[in-house]
Amino acid sequence: MAYNPKDFYFKQAKERHFAARSVFKLEEIDTRFKIFRPGQNVVDLGCAPGSWSQYASQKIGQKGFCIGIDLARVSLVIPNCVFVQGDAFKEETISDLLREKQIEQLDVVLSDMAPKTTGIRIQDQRRSFELCKLALGVARRSLRPGGTFIVKFFQSEFFDEYMKEVKGAFDKVELLRPKSTRKASYEIYIIGLRMKSNIKETPLNRPVTSETT
Ligand SMILES: C[S@@+](CC[C@H](N)C(=O)[O-])C[C@H]1O[C@@H](n2cnc3c(N)ncnc32)[C@H](O)[C@@H]1O
Repeated sequence: MAYNPKDFYFKQAKERHFAARSVFKLEEIDTRFKIFRPGQNVVDLGCAPGSWSQYASQKIGQKGFCIGIDLARVSLVIPNCVFVQGDAFKEETISDLLREKQIEQLDVVLSDMAPKTTGIRIQDQRRSFELCKLALGVARRSLRPGGTFIVKFFQSEFFDEYMKEVKGAFDKVELLRPKSTRKASYEIYIIGLRMKSNIKETPLNRPVTSETT
């Protein structure tokens, strides 16, 4: 079937006032794995235009908090969310916010980050892999034991290597290709359930000092 930018999911997103059709990927993951609970703290990496943060904010309620980060500006205003325009590769972007919001540990780390594609397949795959590694690093350094990690991965030769790393950090790892994923896409979502308690890394919200480097 031909690519249709205004497909069923696009129309559904409009009807339900979500910023993007990608919300249905997160909704499907949540329905299947019961990710969100009221009061949770969430980081949403690559959040623009904001539909995952919108969904998470509804699920975590007023006592929860969601921090969304993207290279692009997000114009939504949501009481239990803050959106930061910045590069997730810059550690301070996330760590400063965690300190400012006095968040010790996160319950959920989401990453729907996608690189700007160049059309050179191996280059795009490598860039996506780097974004996924970055997201896993954020998860390992900021999630509480038992916390959840969801990351979009563009399938490539790096898949086995990445899965090994995720499996090392979580008790259970699941894969899901959502129904709303476009047919031509190589994306798959990796869901790390129950972060292991023996991950010893410098917490992201601790300032980097000579002792921690
Ligand atoms: C598919 S979109 C995310 C859609 C979002 N989940 C939603 O539901 O609205 C991928 C996003 O990743 C962002 N991104 C890519 N590299 C990034 C980086 N280094 N730091 C922050 N965001 C990045 C892009 O700017 C883009 O907005």
